[in-house]
Amino acid sequence: MPAGAADLDALGNDYRVALMSMYANEGQLGASGQRHDIDDSTRISVDEGLALYSLCVESDVTTTLEVGLAYGFSTVYLLAALEHNGGGTHVAIDPYQATDWNGIGITTARQLVAQSTTLPDESMMLIEEMSHAALVDLERIGASFGLSFIDGYHRFDDVLVDFTLAARMCPIGGAIVLHDTWLDSIAAVASFLRSNRIDFVEIDTECENLFAMRRVTDDERDWRHFVDFPLR
Ligand SMILES: C[S@@+](CC[C@H](N)C(=O)[O-])C[C@H]1O[C@@H](n2cnc3c(N)ncnc32)[C@H](O)[C@@H]1O
Repeated sequence: MPAGAADLDALGNDYRVALMSMYANEGQLGASGQRHDIDDSTRISVDEGLALYSLCVESDVTTTLEVGLAYGFSTVYLLAALEHNGGGTHVAIDPYQATDWNGIGITTARQLVAQSTTLPDESMMLIEEMSHAALVDLERIGASFGLSFIDGYHRFDDVLVDFTLAARMCPIGGAIVLHDTWLDSIAAVASFLRSNRIDFVEIDTECENLFAMRRVTDDERDWRHFVDFPLR
């Protein structure tokens, strides 16, 4: 049993059962209808998932976004939160869902939505594009997300671009969360944001591998704005 698994009881039963199977490394259904082995290196922890769930539930979030779907661990927590909040929509961006992940994340998510009486089928949307392109397209159609989770390509510049574009769709009161602050690249992005994104305040999730911020005002920094920042 993964650490904190007892806490999965807080989620609806279908979400708990799905996560227990995933954390147990059982073979998961892919888009072809076949079961596939999964590896245990690509996932968020139970504590991290519950932190995402709580952030959504506490603020009654009904629109969520994630960059990086993979096997769909984070997706399950976010769908569980939307279910708890009485419905909503989740958008996942991953250009490699079919090629690298056998469609497992989207198959699991669609199955959970199909079992739900609260979430209609259109509650789960997958965009199989690189995040920089997909996020621009989402902004163009006027999308807005109460919580965005960024767990895609982990290089400094890619994550900073993901945050910058997601922030443009983050309303005041909304939150953006980065995963994997153990990496120097993500720690440096977090440090830049902490020093420079004065339209956001940091939120303590009690998960050392997450960095979370909540928007508190519009971005009114002028064109010269820059505050030097430590790498960690
Ligand atoms: C660490 S995994 C995500 C794990 C997932 N959040 C979970 O909890 O199960 C990173 C994912 O980012 C995806 N990815 C890589 N480059 C990307 C990009 N440019 N845009 C969006 N997703 C990307 C990968 O295909 C992979 O699925």
